[in-house]
Amino acid sequence: MINIAIFVSGSGSNFENIVKHVQTGQLPGINVTALYTDNEGATCIDRAKKLKIPVHVNQPKDFSTKSLYEQHLLKLLSHEGVQWIILAGYMRLVGEDLLQAYEGRMLNIHPSLLPKFKGLDAIGQALDSGDTITGSTVHFVDSGMDTGEIIEQQQCDIRPDDSKEQLEDRVKKLEHELYPKVIAKIIK
Ligand code: GRF
Repeated sequence: MINIAIFVSGSGSNFENIVKHVQTGQLPGINVTALYTDNEGATCIDRAKKLKIPVHVNQPKDFSTKSLYEQHLLKLLSHEGVQWIILAGYMRLVGEDLLQAYEGRMLNIHPSLLPKFKGLDAIGQALDSGDTITGSTVHFVDSGMDTGEIIEQQQCDIRPDDSKEQLEDRVKKLEHELYPKVIAKIIK
């Protein structure tokens, strides 16, 4: 079994989707040890409870430095034997401590066709751009914001009358196919 931990700051639909893939045997050989969240009010916590996945809530504001926050996470990760970290809507730059321990074993998903529309509100950026296609990218994590090596992308249309919610839903549907597919391919 390969142990993965999933890091989420908000809703957690990708987290839920990955866990459901694992729980229904669609990601054989993979075990989700826990949800790691930096937000005590996040909806992902309710999803984890329903899915019977352990939850670690650790908020950087409760630590005097980012390094101490990440060192605490590293202790938990090591205790659980976590080999890979899956970022799924984790709204922070990963710092040196986590990177040193997990570089090359940490994935992220971003709702654009990187290198386009890095950072916050990629869906809004895509809508404002006038482009007619966008999509989602799974990439390795490095010290930059959405700059790591691209593994795979999937694309969808941007329709002229799209609202942000409509486009976001279309991209999320892609992500729910793309992320498990990449995890199955990369994590062996
Ligand atoms: C996803 O669109 C992902 O690409 C981005 O954050 C969003 C998280 O959505 N990094 P959810 O919490 O999985 O619903």
